[in-house]
Amino acid sequence: MIPTHVTLVEVGPRDGLQNEKSPVDTATKIELVHLLQAAGLREIEVTSYVSPKWVPQMADNAAVMAGVRRRPGVRYSVLTPNLKGFEAAIADPAIQPDEIVVFAAATEAFSQRNINCSIEESIERFRPVVAAAHAQGIKVRSAISCAVECPYQGEVSPDEVERVVLLMKAIGVDHCGVADTIGVGTPRRVQAAMERALKHFPLAEVSGHFHDTYGQALPNVYACLEMGIHTFDASVAGLGGCPYAKGATGNVGTEDVLFMLNGLGIETGIDIDKLIDAAAFISGVLGRKPVSRSGNALLAKRMRAEATA
Ligand code: HMG
Ligand code: MG
Repeated sequence: MIPTHVTLVEVGPRDGLQNEKSPVDTATKIELVHLLQAAGLREIEVTSYVSPKWVPQMADNAAVMAGVRRRPGVRYSVLTPNLKGFEAAIADPAIQPDEIVVFAAATEAFSQRNINCSIEESIERFRPVVAAAHAQGIKVRSAISCAVECPYQGEVSPDEVERVVLLMKAIGVDHCGVADTIGVGTPRRVQAAMERALKHFPLAEVSGHFHDTYGQALPNVYACLEMGIHTFDASVAGLGGCPYAKGATGNVGTEDVLFMLNGLGIETGIDIDKLIDAAAFISGVLGRKPVSRSGNALLAKRMRAEATA
């Protein structure tokens, strides 16, 4: 039985905009978050407290957090790679996140390229972050990159994924996110990786994060639904990518996942028309069409309707 309810974690403002070549201004990022929450998204990954030398696109993290008019019932999360990032994220209690994300990799090469340390070192960096977050009542999500394949090391085995799942569990993270960073996973391979997360975390605390480089993200979401998994990251207009995973395209489009879930009669609480407002807004600012197929189709349909009205 596939789930009756699904939670979509909107990662567009973070995963989406971290990879944009031209700078996106702070006001646009804030407006995007406002449109996403108006559409019914209840979990939004807003920004990253990472080094601005590594990812300049997220340098305005505090200004974005300060500008967001928070809605009750919405959980706002940020990426924190180390204690320095966590301390910056909570420095002003008025703008502190509800949730943080610590992110490791299933391969040594990606760990070095993305966060400049080994897997073990990254876990040791996260350990005090998890403890400090919990002391403040802040939930900790983890993300495991390259859970199917690594752009530098090639194929990744489920054993390699499980190793990091266990390391994350040992430091007490609340949630285990499994990421196909370069979007090459196909359903059975993704299921094999997800199984390893499900061995150690409850169903409600396992999620999928699928980039759509090879058009496999939607079948991978469906394959996870078959396993009962009901939390997925998705990105409005299919924005995204990781600056340290060259050639990888955006996350699965939130509109694509929502269109499928709506067709399956699965509740999400998200209004697709309002989601298209968000997709239209950010696509307009970026000067290109959404990458998501449903986003594009629904936007084109809206424009045809407006032209004949
Ligand atoms: P490092 O250079 O090894 O850090 O970077 P360091 O501790 O040696 O410090 C060097 C400088 O960075 C110092 O400044 C620190 O203060 C500063 P300086 O003295 O030179 O002026 N620094 C910081 N500044 C701001 N915020 C911080 C911070 N930490 C140190 N938190 C570090 C190590 C982890 C910081 C760096 O590698 C980094 O920021 N990496 C982030 C890369 C990133 O954001 N990648 C994209 C997000 S992950 C992703 O997209 C994958 C995901 O979507 C899942 C999937 O698809 O796979 C989640
Ligand atoms: Mg990603």
